[in-house]
Amino acid sequence: MQIIILPTAQDVANYAADRVADVVNTRHHPVLGLATGSTPIALYEQLVARYQANSLSFKHCVTFNLDEYIGIPGSHSQSYRAFMEHHLFGQIDVEASHTHVPLAASMNVAELEQSAKDYELAIQHAGGIDLQILGIGVNGHIGFNEPTSSFASRTRIKTLSESTVEANKRFFSDDEFQPHLALTMGIGTILDAKAVLLMATGKGKAGAVKAMIEGPLTSMCPASVLQQHEKATIVLDEEAASELA
Ligand code: F6R
Repeated sequence: MQIIILPTAQDVANYAADRVADVVNTRHHPVLGLATGSTPIALYEQLVARYQANSLSFKHCVTFNLDEYIGIPGSHSQSYRAFMEHHLFGQIDVEASHTHVPLAASMNVAELEQSAKDYELAIQHAGGIDLQILGIGVNGHIGFNEPTSSFASRTRIKTLSESTVEANKRFFSDDEFQPHLALTMGIGTILDAKAVLLMATGKGKAGAVKAMIEGPLTSMCPASVLQQHEKATIVLDEEAASELA
């Protein structure tokens, strides 16, 4: 696990954009693993800026997002598909058919389980993920792998923890249905990525970051599993690193 501490959140985004650009520019068919949430927005702004400046093209890229809410369609403004279209896919030259976000609009368990299997197969058929971008939840989750998730887990249905539902409440209006279930890549799926880059910014993440880096390897802090990935980089701003010894 390589730890990089940079002064600001913008520095973290620039560093992450350099890492993505490196993969995109050096592979014939780059496969990117992507995340949603507040943290990678600045990264996506950087990637869009580089595309607009003609210094980066995503024409040959294939992408796989970590997760999607169950029970809302991709057209819903709070779906992770819509998030990705808004912040990245709709603003760069990636082929629409090369972008993957778990299909989770159905509430039918058999259909969701099939969707999860198909997602794993699609990643395999693409040749595996070259670089997986991750954020971290305040409870140490990665993707929607909440505390106690198995380190061997694959893409599956997951119930969101109370703290995650609470943290994501800000995106839904009071009278709006807020999903409590998600389809998420498993920890085993994430560990299969050839390289992993976890971004964390802001004071609110300092406790989770400390547990991930200095705490024991434990399913109570799913991100601690990255201690065992050969090519995991954790890039932090000073606030997120503020509780490290
Ligand atoms: C999002 C995801 C989550 C987030 C995490 C942090 O696709 O998988 O694990 O990375 O909840 O979210 P933010 O960045 O909003 O603090």
